[in-house]
Amino acid sequence: MKGASCWVILLMFALLEAWRLKCLAVANQEESVCQICSCPVSWKGQVVKCTGKNLTQLPSSFPASTKILYLDQNNLTRISRGAFLNLRNLTYLNLGLNNIKYVENGSFKSLSILEDLYLHDNSIESLTPGVFDGLESLTDLMLQNNKISELLNGTFRGVNSLVKLYLQYNNITFIQEGCFENLLTLQTLDLHTNSIQTITPGGFENLEYLSELMLDNNKISELLNGTFSGLDRLNYLSLINNRIQRIAPGTFEDLKALRSLSLNKNNITEIRSLTFKGLRYVKKILLENNNITTVEPGAFHSFSKSRFFNHLSIANNKLEIIKNKTFSGLNYLYELYMDNNDIHRIEATGFYRMRKLRYLYLRGNRLRCIAYGTFYYTKNLYKL
Ligand SMILES: *[C@@H]1O[C@H](CO)[C@@H](O)[C@H](O)[C@H]1NC(C)=O
Ligand SMILES: *[C@@H]1O[C@H](CO)[C@@H](O)[C@H](O)[C@H]1NC(C)=O
Ligand SMILES: *[C@@H]1O[C@H](CO)[C@@H](O)[C@H](O)[C@H]1NC(C)=O
Ligand SMILES: *[C@@H]1O[C@H](CO)[C@@H](O)[C@H](O)[C@H]1NC(C)=O
Ligand SMILES: *[C@@H]1O[C@H](CO)[C@@H](O)[C@H](O)[C@H]1NC(C)=O
Ligand SMILES: *[C@@H]1O[C@H](CO)[C@@H](O)[C@H](O)[C@H]1NC(C)=O
Ligand SMILES: *[C@@H]1O[C@H](CO)[C@@H](O)[C@H](O)[C@H]1NC(C)=O
Ligand SMILES: *[C@@H]1O[C@H](CO)[C@@H](O)[C@H](O)[C@H]1NC(C)=O
Ligand SMILES: *[C@@H]1O[C@H](CO)[C@@H](O)[C@H](O)[C@H]1NC(C)=O
Ligand SMILES: *[C@@H]1O[C@H](CO)[C@@H](O)[C@H](O)[C@H]1NC(C)=O
Repeated sequence: MKGASCWVILLMFALLEAWRLKCLAVANQEESVCQICSCPVSWKGQVVKCTGKNLTQLPSSFPASTKILYLDQNNLTRISRGAFLNLRNLTYLNLGLNNIKYVENGSFKSLSILEDLYLHDNSIESLTPGVFDGLESLTDLMLQNNKISELLNGTFRGVNSLVKLYLQYNNITFIQEGCFENLLTLQTLDLHTNSIQTITPGGFENLEYLSELMLDNNKISELLNGTFSGLDRLNYLSLINNRIQRIAPGTFEDLKALRSLSLNKNNITEIRSLTFKGLRYVKKILLENNNITTVEPGAFHSFSKSRFFNHLSIANNKLEIIKNKTFSGLNYLYELYMDNNDIHRIEATGFYRMRKLRYLYLRGNRLRCIAYGTFYYTKNLYKL
């Protein structure tokens, strides 16, 4: 009997000792993370700051209480599956400005309350479908300044709460159909400075909360009817510096909420009667630095009841003649820029019923004389 209870006591001591050593080891690891990095005491172990520590590998473990983790400005090259496995309370993870090439499938799997993930300024070349699995609460995903060349269907699956997605300054040439289809709450999609040539009609179909879409500095040559379908709440669309030559009738038809459309620095040659159809609430359209020779009279006819459209710029193009009623429909336009064209003639009702026009810019044209009555309708003109 005595021998047996002795063994029990010994065993208990052994177990206790093992447990104590394990705790010590964990504490040591955490301590060592906090020796390399800083773990501000006032934040009760919830903030770990490893910014600019020249790390080439992730420290072995972080305190399980970590909510905010900075690993930016290091020299990490790879993120492996399970890297952040014990960090179930993490809400902010910054991996920006490293040297990351690979992010393994499942790297973020347990981070179900993570809201902000920074992966910008790295060397990521591809994103495997499933790479962001588990990030159920993610709202902001920063992937700008990498070397991503394609977006496949499934890349963003599971990140169903995303609000902002930054993909500018990559080398995206291919966007597979369906790759944005689950991003039902997305509000900002930034794709500027990539190598996108085509957007499949319906490619943005499900993004019904999208408010800003940036596509500047790409290689888009054509906009098709349906390219922007489904974007009912889009406010801001920017396509500056592409190669757009053709805009299909009805292209902007679904953009009922659009306020600002920038098409500067493209290769557009004419504005036709259905080009801007449907832009009910647009305030501003910019068409500077294109190759426009013709604006079809009636092109703006559908705006006759729109009190919002007040700014139009066709500066730096190749307009020659402003025909009668070219701008008819623009009854509420306030500013019209047509400087640096080749305009040599303005027909008598060229500015038909533009009663609200206040600023009209015609510098840098070849105008000699202007027909009597040209400004009959533009009673509010203030600056010419
Ligand atoms: C960073 O680490 C590399 C080698 O790992 C070393 O050569 C370099 O001096 C370190 N830089 C700094 C700023 O500590
Ligand atoms: C994680 O957060 C919850 C709720 O704030 C808290 O109860 C729990 O102790 C935290 N876990 C750790 C390991 O700190
Ligand atoms: C990053 O690590 C590589 C070797 O892995 C080294 O050559 C390079 O100098 C490091 N860069 C910085 C900024 O420390
Ligand atoms: C990535 O993980 C998912 C499951 O999470 C799996 O279906 C898929 O095949 C994996 N892809 C690769 C390339 O490992
Ligand atoms: C972008 O991708 C294209 C084709 O995939 C490639 O030829 C080009 O070198 C890449 N550019 C950069 C800056 O990586
Ligand atoms: C994208 O992938 C999902 C799941 O694999 C599939 O259900 C869906 O049909 C795909 N979408 C397109 C447009 O191919
Ligand atoms: C654009 O496409 C839609 C749907 O396919 C169609 O209903 C509409 O008539 C088209 N608009 C024009 C101007 O062709
Ligand atoms: C404008 O059009 C002409 C003739 O179609 C073409 O040669 C020229 O390259 C175009 N300009 C621009 C900026 O694309
Ligand atoms: C602009 O379009 C014209 C044809 O309309 C084409 O000849 C020219 O190469 C294009 N310019 C650019 C820069 O794409
Ligand atoms: C333009 O309108 C004026 C006034 O209505 C008219 O006298 C003139 O003939 C028209 N010009 C052309 C080319 O139709």
